[in-house]
Amino acid sequence: MATPHKKTLAPNEIIFRQGDLGDCAYLIESGRVAIFIERGNEEIPLRILGEGEVFGEMSLIDNVPRSASCRSVDRCNLIVVTKDQLLDRIKAADPVVRLLMKALLERLRGQNAILRNEVLAPSVASDPSVLDKKEALQRIGLENSLASALDEDEFIPYYQPIHSLKTKKIVGCEALIRWVTKDGQIISPASYMDVLEDSSLILQAGQIMIDKSLRDLPNISSQFKNSDFFVSINISGRQFSHPDFLAKLDESRNRAQVSSHQIKLELTERIMMDGPLALAALRQCRLKGYKLALDDFGTGFSSLQYLTQMPLTDLKIDRSFTSRMNEDQRSLSIVQTLIHMARLLGMNLIAEGIETLDQLKLYEAMGVEMGQGYLFDKPMPIEAFLKLQSQLKTG
Ligand code: C2E
Ligand code: CMP
Ligand code: CA
Ligand code: CA
Repeated sequence: MATPHKKTLAPNEIIFRQGDLGDCAYLIESGRVAIFIERGNEEIPLRILGEGEVFGEMSLIDNVPRSASCRSVDRCNLIVVTKDQLLDRIKAADPVVRLLMKALLERLRGQNAILRNEVLAPSVASDPSVLDKKEALQRIGLENSLASALDEDEFIPYYQPIHSLKTKKIVGCEALIRWVTKDGQIISPASYMDVLEDSSLILQAGQIMIDKSLRDLPNISSQFKNSDFFVSINISGRQFSHPDFLAKLDESRNRAQVSSHQIKLELTERIMMDGPLALAALRQCRLKGYKLALDDFGTGFSSLQYLTQMPLTDLKIDRSFTSRMNEDQRSLSIVQTLIHMARLLGMNLIAEGIETLDQLKLYEAMGVEMGQGYLFDKPMPIEAFLKLQSQLKTG
């Protein structure tokens, strides 16, 4: 039988007893409940809880029987919070927050055990999938390493060329972050991007990527003898919604003396979570002449309604579509729809992750303007990137 969502209790009803297995928590809509410890025949009062307070959550979080008993004081209306509702949220939380929660729970259980004249084992049995200490420690460790790597200036952009599929020339590049460790390892962002983005470190890392790639741009542009050569910079949601974002971007651009039409900001659909605020910021960027590309389109929770309002100049076709479109009719249909939509909205298309000649030919046949991928080149350091032009001339 499904758990009812609400419960109404008369005064003095037992809701659950210390030692019971916990199956749900409660939110008090009205009335009061008493939490108490049972020691032999004695009752030791702990708290009286009222409207808006929650109880019965502990046993769900750490999977240990109820730490105390609970009885209604007056007539109560309770909202039932199911185990899944609670655990889904906890699992989605930062592992460090989960670790703190575990520490607080253990402390509270320890105090209750003292009241029961019991001694609690140092660490209560807990559900490792929900409260994983190791994961939290690893995360804090990585966050600290990233913070000192930022202080030590260990992040640099690698550049991947973006080709015009019509002229075959390199018309731009995407700047992709790399961590160059002290022992010379070059680490791609897959292993640390989440940690950067979940903390404010992304602001610092993002600014470094803007500064360094804009500093390199005049060099690249003159080497390729193209004053329209563009650099595409990935901007994370937190960075874009920061109130200083545009002012700092302008500052870096002025310092590097490059024109805004050579700068493309790559944003994902996630920025649209900010709704009208994001829209206003996008319009400001366009007014200043920056180009705006939508990255990873179709992989997130896109809102077509927002897409049509966003002043975008480019749409990037995600690698996942490129890799499947030659074999899978559904992926090909999505790509065709994206192309059609971009045309209607006046946007340019950039195909990502082109690895085979078949993929390239298909994109060319469909009239896609630009492409990048391992078929052409992998991302590379600035020195190698600057040599590409001379190789093209001689090769
Ligand atoms: P993304 O923006 O989708 O970047 C494309 C990723 O695909 C890059 O991985 C690139 O190296 C890789 N790639 C390019 N062509 C091919 C191909 O033909 N085959 C395959 N298998 N892969 C290809 P990378 O450099 O590891 O970056 C991963 C993600 O990290 C990026 O995905 C982007 O979301 C994020 N990222 C990278 N640099 C930055 C940055 O400076 N700031 C922010 N906010 N995010 C960044
Ligand atoms: P749970 O252990 O599931 O069941 C008993 C509930 O009482 C517990 O969750 C908490 O919501 C609450 N509780 C336990 N100990 C205390 C305490 N010391 N002070 C206040 N509330 C408590
Ligand atoms: Ca990108
Ligand atoms: Ca992408």
